[in-house]
Amino acid sequence: MQRIAVLASGGGSNLEALCAALDERPDAAVVLVVSDRPGAGALERARRRGIATTVVDPVDPPALETALSAATIDWIVLAGYLRRVPPQVVSRWRGRIVNIHPALLPRFGGPGMYGLRVHQAVLDAGERESGATVHVVDDEYDHGPVLAQRTVPVEPDDTPESLASRVLTLEHRLLPAVVIAAVEGRVHVEDGEARIEGGLDV
Ligand code: GRF
Repeated sequence: MQRIAVLASGGGSNLEALCAALDERPDAAVVLVVSDRPGAGALERARRRGIATTVVDPVDPPALETALSAATIDWIVLAGYLRRVPPQVVSRWRGRIVNIHPALLPRFGGPGMYGLRVHQAVLDAGERESGATVHVVDDEYDHGPVLAQRTVPVEPDDTPESLASRVLTLEHRLLPAVVIAAVEGRVHVEDGEARIEGGLDV
C-alpha cells in the first residue's frame, strides 16, 4: 500500500477531499498529517479520521525528515503548507512530493503568494480566468514542473473570497485525481519534466 503524508498549515479541506477519494482504495492511504501550526484545522480533521499527526517546528528541518522517514512515506502532498520544504526532504523524496496552488502557475505564485493574496492579485491583473495547479515540489516555492492545471472563469463581480471559493472547489477534484494517478504509477518525473500517463478525468 502506498503511504501518503500530507503537509498542511490551514483548515485542511484539501486533506479532507483527498482522504475521501482514497477511502475506498486498498492501494493507498494518508497515514500521516504534518503541520507547522499546532492549532491547524487539518490536524483536527486528521485526528477525527484516526490519522497520525505531528507538529514540526520549521526551524528544525531534521524533525520533518525524521517524522516522514519513521512513517515510511512513499508520497508527500503539500495542501496549504506555508513553509519551504527542507532540501534534505526534497532530495530524499525527489519527484514524489506534489503541491497544489490556487492559481495558474507560473503566474501568481512564489514567496508570499498564498491565501486571498493570490486571488486578489488575479483580480488586480484583470484576468478573465484563474484555476489550480498541481506541481512537483523542488527547492523553490511554487516552482517545480507542472503535473496538472485546470481553469475556472473569473466573474466580473468576483471578490477574492468568491474566486477563492470557486478555485477551492476545483482543487478538491484536481488534487485527488493527481494523487490517484501517482499511486497508480502514472506520474513520471524526469529531468525537470513531469507528465501524467493516460491523462486525468477532472
Ligand atoms: C488551498 O487553496 C491550497 O491551494 C493552498 O492553500 C489552501 C489550503 O486550503 N495552498 P485547505 O487548508 O486545504 O482548506
